[in-house]
Amino acid sequence: MPRLVSHPDEVKIVTKRFGMGAAKIEKYIELGGYEQAKICLAQGPDWIINEMKASGLRGRGGAGFPTGMKWSFVPKVSAKPKYILVNGDESEPGTCKDHLIFLHDPHSIIEGAMIAGLAVGAKMGFIYLRGEYRYLIEIMEKAVADAYAKGILGKNIFGSDTAFDVIVQSGAGAYEVGEESALMESLEGKRGGPRIRPPFPAGVGLYGGPTVINNAETIATVPHIFAMGAAAYAAVGTERNGGTRLFGVSGHVERPGVYELPMGYNLKKIIYDVAGGVRGGRKLKAVVPGGSSTPCFLPEEIENLGMDFDQVGKAGSMLGSGGGVVIDSQTCMVEFALRTISFYQHESCGWCIPCREGTDWLKKSISRVNAGFGESKDIDNIQYIAENILGRTFCPLGDAAAMPIIGFVKKFRKEFEDHLNGQPCKYAKHVELAVV
Ligand SMILES: Cc1cc2nc3c(=O)[nH]c(=O)nc-3n(C[C@H](O)[C@H](O)[C@H](O)COP(=O)(O)O)c2cc1C
Repeated sequence: MPRLVSHPDEVKIVTKRFGMGAAKIEKYIELGGYEQAKICLAQGPDWIINEMKASGLRGRGGAGFPTGMKWSFVPKVSAKPKYILVNGDESEPGTCKDHLIFLHDPHSIIEGAMIAGLAVGAKMGFIYLRGEYRYLIEIMEKAVADAYAKGILGKNIFGSDTAFDVIVQSGAGAYEVGEESALMESLEGKRGGPRIRPPFPAGVGLYGGPTVINNAETIATVPHIFAMGAAAYAAVGTERNGGTRLFGVSGHVERPGVYELPMGYNLKKIIYDVAGGVRGGRKLKAVVPGGSSTPCFLPEEIENLGMDFDQVGKAGSMLGSGGGVVIDSQTCMVEFALRTISFYQHESCGWCIPCREGTDWLKKSISRVNAGFGESKDIDNIQYIAENILGRTFCPLGDAAAMPIIGFVKKFRKEFEDHLNGQPCKYAKHVELAVV
């Protein structure tokens, strides 16, 4: 069971009910739960969407797309039913936040999905959970059943003539189905591969109907925005980056965990103050800021780095899913690169060639360099392959694989060369195990 961590700099908005027993519907209601859905039902779609735009909330799934704007793209009138999809696939290595919401505050996800439904005129929501999160399915299904029993979900929500139903669905353990179009294929009972876009989900999504798909943290944030007011929520963060973010800190730190901090909080402070510094007092070698697909930073690059979508993007990486991985001085970066690409090679759905073949070539090439059997041109080749995957795949899994590798080679080229020169760093423990 994940441990709850805490730090005085945290601003608890999404996590405020964690540890309070809010998975029980009575407690959730006692703490003000479902009040915001009621208010939104009374206020209507335009008001909801305007408030969401004013909140500055940007999607927490990775790309940081403004949520209010996404909802506004859904056509008002549609011949086909509209849907809300909550993306709880959470499979990006380093990312470990959504599961805490499912565990501690499942009703906030139901309420957020209801509000999204009221905003766009959808009467049905799906909550899609990562296949490995089996222990959360019962919690989520019970929360949904309790909400039906209290008349909160169903044909007449809060006694109105508006309906909203929720179905909880589990994945089967594939990273690719976290990608929004692959998730819809999976929900429809097909193989979880991506769709070609356009059309985009807001127009043609699940079962061909207009669909809003949002990350679980994004959706769980929604009721809080209405509870505190959009302007107050926006004011917690930075310009164009409203509110807080659940930052995961894993790897070589003293206090790993998930911390809710204002958008724009300094990355160095996250590592040293919030997460207690690098484990064992060692030196920081690098940090992956937002999940394994985001290019790493060197220690000197994070001095003044605020963790919001714009600042991290400007510094050459991505805020992504907010899953930071801290790497200490006793880590072999060639091995780290190999571990990273092994994940993406395994998870590539295999549909498009640059991703299927490219990730495999990258894994083989990095493996060879790691084992010290390569030639110096292999390093340029790794860079070349990665750069040629970028932007050439049907879905961004290819980019997710290529971006970190480009970063590792650029920032740690000497370590790759040392492996080829028969002088790998002394921490390269798996050299002899490498698959060539
Ligand atoms: C390979 C791949 C995996 C993804 N996995 C997830 C995931 O597990 N959870 C998630 O919310 N978004 C994931 N995304 C992003 C989604 O496609 C989508 O952008 C997101 O769910 C939109 O929600 P948001 O606007 O609230 O961020 C993934 C994207 C790709 C390319």
